[in-house]
Amino acid sequence: MKNITLSVEKVLGFIPQEKINSCADAVAKAQAALEDGTGKGNDFLGWLHLPSSITDADLKDLEDTAKGLRESCEAVVVAGIGGSYLGAKAVIEALQSSFQWLKEKKGPVILFAGNNISEDYLAELLDLLKGKKFGIINISKSGTTTETALTFRLLKTLLEQQVGKDEARKRIVAITDSSKGALRKLSTQEGYKTFVIPDNVGGRFSVLTPVGLLPIAVAGFDIRALVAGAVEMENKCANSVKFEENPAAVYAATRNLLYKDGKKIEILVNYHPKLHFLAEWWKQLYGESEGKDKKGLFPASVDFTTDLHSMGQWIQDGERIIYETVISVETPVKKLEFPSDAENLDGLNFLAGKRIDEVNKMAELGTQIAHVDGGVPNIHISVPELTEAYIGQLIYFFEKACGISGYLLGVNPFDQPGVEAYKKNMFALLEKPGYEAETAAMKARLGKK
Ligand code: PA5
Repeated sequence: MKNITLSVEKVLGFIPQEKINSCADAVAKAQAALEDGTGKGNDFLGWLHLPSSITDADLKDLEDTAKGLRESCEAVVVAGIGGSYLGAKAVIEALQSSFQWLKEKKGPVILFAGNNISEDYLAELLDLLKGKKFGIINISKSGTTTETALTFRLLKTLLEQQVGKDEARKRIVAITDSSKGALRKLSTQEGYKTFVIPDNVGGRFSVLTPVGLLPIAVAGFDIRALVAGAVEMENKCANSVKFEENPAAVYAATRNLLYKDGKKIEILVNYHPKLHFLAEWWKQLYGESEGKDKKGLFPASVDFTTDLHSMGQWIQDGERIIYETVISVETPVKKLEFPSDAENLDGLNFLAGKRIDEVNKMAELGTQIAHVDGGVPNIHISVPELTEAYIGQLIYFFEKACGISGYLLGVNPFDQPGVEAYKKNMFALLEKPGYEAETAAMKARLGKK
């Protein structure tokens, strides 16, 4: 198997190589703290050696369950939010056809819900599912997340109305805590097939648990290859690997130096629309892990060349507080050559016979040169192809680098206390039982009776 590779060459005009190399000791300490469990958030390190600990029996159970859903459903709704959906969505979008909806179906359509509270979205989803053979994968570690729980109740009600309680329970799979929470209780009572989210794996690090693996398998992708790719990167990013040869170590060190040098925003760039949700997953991973204690790079993303026609202006010419990390795919899955035209009215015959990807690559190179010249350092990640194995490598690479980077920054990369504030206010406003004091305070603040 080839590997994804990292290059910081286009950062060296801003941060010299020696300075990056001088981070080796600090990075080694961060890596040791992850390995020994002596750093902050050390009860959430289950992701660190997760790929190599996944057993054949684990994969078989997931594959068998996926097969059952694939055979019995036209659509499978994955209900979950944040870490309980972004990983699966990212991998499925990266691997499936951009026009999956219109393609001849070889398995169920995978739909995502439980990640918003839009009445229109939910009503339209229920309309779509009426009369359809559908299943539900309900994912919530806590089992109490409002968006997901509310959506699940709506979906479960419709499914039971359509096929009856007995058949419905065969088409519902719950992925949750091993013993705690409302979803565990409900699953036990209703007799749903369940998978466990390990206690020591936080949501945003859970894509290689059943949280990501089951939906990916239901979508028809090879979870064994995905996990094998992640294992490969677990080895490539191991603490025993020399700093300069360890991509997670070099990436973490470089972004930390760029941050200290005044860069406040890291923009993850792709040149393939299929990678849009990989960037969404990455934004959660780094945003939730590092944005705390009034510190942390703001993770942003753009889809090029599309966004070169919108955000390109800001990136080229706006305040110099940004750098880019470009995910470059070496070889596209498909092959398409640009045709010659006898009349050449559009003046594009100079491209005749070229692969479309060659045009894309020249756009990529031209953009890199322009942005670096314009004062935007570029980190480059090369992905041989968009296959399960390389996506698996990318996932583990980003996770390991995130753990190291969080420790270099001096934060706990594994908690997310900041996401509770809106929930408390929302429950107070909705007058949730148990929130009487907060409701009274909120009413007083808003001048309501
Ligand atoms: O990373 C996280 O911990 C969060 O994004 C959670 O995954 C998200 O809030 C969903 O939580 P839960 O799985 O408990 O419903």
